[in-house]
Amino acid sequence: MSSAARESLDVRLTVNGNPVTLTVPARVTLADTLRDRLGLTGTHLGCEHGVCGMCTVLVDGDAARSCLLFAVQLDGAEIVTVEGLGRPDAQHPLQEAFSRHHALQCGFCTPGFLMSSYDLLADGTDIEPASLPAELSGVLCRCTGYRNIIAAVADVADAHPDGIPGPRNCGAHALADRGRAVSPGIGGVPPADGGDAAPAGDTGAHEDIRLPAGRPAATVDVASQVAAPLAEVWRVLDDVDLLARCLPGAELTERLPGDRYRGRARVAVGPIRLSFAGFAQVTERDPGAHRLHVLAHGTDAGGAQTHADIRLTAEAVGEGTTLRAQADVYLAGRIAQFGRALAGDVSRRLFEQFAEAVAAAAIAGPGSDTGASHASSRPAVAVRPMRLMGAVAAARLRALVRHVRSAVGR
Ligand code: FES
Ligand code: FES
Repeated sequence: MSSAARESLDVRLTVNGNPVTLTVPARVTLADTLRDRLGLTGTHLGCEHGVCGMCTVLVDGDAARSCLLFAVQLDGAEIVTVEGLGRPDAQHPLQEAFSRHHALQCGFCTPGFLMSSYDLLADGTDIEPASLPAELSGVLCRCTGYRNIIAAVADVADAHPDGIPGPRNCGAHALADRGRAVSPGIGGVPPADGGDAAPAGDTGAHEDIRLPAGRPAATVDVASQVAAPLAEVWRVLDDVDLLARCLPGAELTERLPGDRYRGRARVAVGPIRLSFAGFAQVTERDPGAHRLHVLAHGTDAGGAQTHADIRLTAEAVGEGTTLRAQADVYLAGRIAQFGRALAGDVSRRLFEQFAEAVAAAAIAGPGSDTGASHASSRPAVAVRPMRLMGAVAAARLRALVRHVRSAVGR
């Protein structure tokens, strides 16, 4: 490879309405830049040879195969990806029609079809329904679900004869809703080869965490009985260093003004290993009600994102304490592929582990090996991938056995 191909160059792009400046090696394609540097993994890669159309995006308003373009060719270009087309709570008519017509099976080709269809219908050109198969033949569906795709696009063409509405998720925060992480002039995800960009997951110490719109991927409500008095449990909840060490895989790295914290968390679910850099903000700390409200946001280098709205309450019950963790968990990027059931199972298991760790720290007391005084030198609780999946799988199996038994007993 020539040294010119290895050379890194600055490129300024506007991606889904957000100006970004990135330093990328000359050989890196637009598709890889969108996916690996900006976390926009909705742009899929199939053939990487310009044949399948999976990687279609809009470049200056026209459909283009992002696997065939080098990012450095595109200085000054406006790019729209499928993430810019719409949001779950504000879908583009094309997305609504694909959903209505069930125009996807595995969904791998869907971003390519959506962006190609957008290009086809954007200017209101009169499209004969009979010509749609040929017009859309630049994208391949390996599930061969062409009839429903054509029906969806025909529906939208019919409803918008003068041209379809513009993209609905372009503008501030359209880059996978990652808050400050992509700001004018700065690429949001650190490059694999070194840092010219803001740290992943850095939402900015000065900004409040904003939860994504729409339904959370998982809602957790876990109550645990702790054999320790309320004061001891609250001591753990009120000590952020200790609290962070009770969170599976988490590590506090920096205290920021205003009850805000920067940290890292490692989570492994089966083969998926995620290393989040994140930010947490205590929005309510009520020692009288023994209540803590925390917002958290994390991003990993592969573009996975999580937001969490966490409410922790402790209540005296007899000589012990009931610890309740309620959380709304939002997932985006490559972990959004988890179904709601799996996301719920994993989140619940994480909070169960958290409650167990809080109980252990509360029972141990401040002066012991597992108490607060020693906590700062203790490594973060490690999450073993198989343990987490094993626990989740075991819970699912138990539920299945219960279901079968009750069915047999009927
Ligand atoms: S991945 Fe670009 S055309 Fe197939
Ligand atoms: S729906 Fe599977 S590739 Fe098109």
